[in-house]
Amino acid sequence: MPTPPAAPPHEEPWWTSAVVYQVYVRSFADSDGDGIGDLRGLLSKVDYLSHLGIDVVWLSPIYPSPQDDGGYDVSDYQGIDPLFGTLADFDELLAALHARGIKLIIDLVVNHTSDEHPWFKASRSDPSSPYRDWYWWRPARPGKVPGKPGSEPNNWRSAFSGSAWEFDEDTQEYYLHLFSRRQPDLNWENPQVRQAVHQMMCWWLDRGVDGFRMDVINMISKDVLLPDGPPIPGEDFGDGGPFYLCGPRLDEFLQEMRQEVFAGRGDHVLTVGEMPNVTLEQARAITDRHSPRLDMVFQFEHVQVDQGPGGKFDLLPLRPADLKASLSRWQEGLAGTGWNTLYLGNHDQPRLVSRFGDADELRVPSAKALATMLHLHRGTPFIFQGDELGMTNYPWREASEFRDIESLNHYRDRVERGENPETVMQTLRRMSRDNARTPMQWDASTHAGFSTGTPWLSVHPDHAEVNVARQLDDPDSVLSHYRRLIALRHEEPAVSRGDFTLLLPSHEQVYAFMRRHEGTEVLVVTNLTGAEANAGSLPGALAWLEAELLLMNYPGVPTSWRLRPFESRVYRRR
Ligand code: NOJ
Repeated sequence: MPTPPAAPPHEEPWWTSAVVYQVYVRSFADSDGDGIGDLRGLLSKVDYLSHLGIDVVWLSPIYPSPQDDGGYDVSDYQGIDPLFGTLADFDELLAALHARGIKLIIDLVVNHTSDEHPWFKASRSDPSSPYRDWYWWRPARPGKVPGKPGSEPNNWRSAFSGSAWEFDEDTQEYYLHLFSRRQPDLNWENPQVRQAVHQMMCWWLDRGVDGFRMDVINMISKDVLLPDGPPIPGEDFGDGGPFYLCGPRLDEFLQEMRQEVFAGRGDHVLTVGEMPNVTLEQARAITDRHSPRLDMVFQFEHVQVDQGPGGKFDLLPLRPADLKASLSRWQEGLAGTGWNTLYLGNHDQPRLVSRFGDADELRVPSAKALATMLHLHRGTPFIFQGDELGMTNYPWREASEFRDIESLNHYRDRVERGENPETVMQTLRRMSRDNARTPMQWDASTHAGFSTGTPWLSVHPDHAEVNVARQLDDPDSVLSHYRRLIALRHEEPAVSRGDFTLLLPSHEQVYAFMRRHEGTEVLVVTNLTGAEANAGSLPGALAWLEAELLLMNYPGVPTSWRLRPFESRVYRRR
């Protein structure tokens, strides 16, 4: 199998100057007309990825799966779901990417399996099977009748609504599922579980993959006493988070994995851990370059600035100053020893332009401004497919249009509990994960060039205007802007390696910061709002107007610090 060309030698890890592109395969490109994206569809687009200039592709799960949660419910870790293709297609894709100098990381979903995984089937069918202990089986609460509401072993709520416990009639016990009831949690306390996971990971690395994005990896260690969590406002259940997020043995499990799976593999391998609610202190320890457990983590603070204590669907108005405060806090907090991921969108988040920008008149400038602000930070940028076009949230009319289990469960749960369906729809229009999952918009044709068949999820009606074909050769397109940002990270060490200094910390509209590296200074100034803003109080403001203007999202050369709505500028001086 061809190995990717070695990264240019320098003292920093290669991924400090790399940009990752996330492909949600089911929505990217469909080669066989069944309406579902697949590996051969993606294979036909590798030149597009190469043109974009990205360094790494992250593939969302492509393993055999009942697809209860878009493939995050895996029934066989060492195969490809026929929906997406075959192992031979996978190998061909890997070779095609490697031939273009692009690495491939895959999704590792090992906090839970599908309920159709042979391990769980064995575990469920026979309490005396050695597999019983591979999952979390518990009897009803003492004194309670098994199977009745309120008899669950504890009060934890599932991320997808309702209790995190499912009752099994046949064996009269409950199993834990932090996500859907078809995603039973693996018991990492059992060393055989860990060994099986390690072996599987080695199998993929031996096949040539370049690393893993690790799904909710900070949930693998639970407090084995499984205590009740604090009540969640407005819910019948409690928050088990304090007992399963970054639990007591997480560090041990990650160290063991590093030793068993990654030791001696060389530094081309990339590890990214998805870690809801990870704290800055925890993230610093996990990514500390002197003793890393993982290369980088996805933290969630900045994508929760518009949420109240009730969680994801407890929505608050977005205050740009909160976004800035959070992003800069992590820049400062991980300075020196740790490393950030940089993301505003992925398959679980609404479209970034709709959320943080303006999806209407200011779609193009706000898409470019947000991208500039994000990519110029210290860290590794992750682009979610379609964000490089400035794709926006879908105009959902009714709940039956959704396919995402989280959205569907939330709708049903709230309506059953008496909430006005239109109020629930308003929240889902803003937050549903399906906003990100509508098919990639390749051209203006009927199904946006995604498929010749009927797409599994509606294509956005704006695809006639927002699509790859229209943007590819347009130097003013959002796509061209992303290409420039990616190139800038490759070319300018102050972007990839420079330090970070926040400027104008208390400005309500403007996010300004400086990156410095060996005598080069890069100034990044972004108006995060749809109103004009004044950045004239920047230190050395007038002198900066004379510096080299590297990037901007409006035409012309600025002569003042009056910023137009969502105006963003990058200056350099040496
Ligand atoms: C996080 C994944 O990104 C999300 O899509 C999935 O539903 C959950 N983990 C459960 O695997």
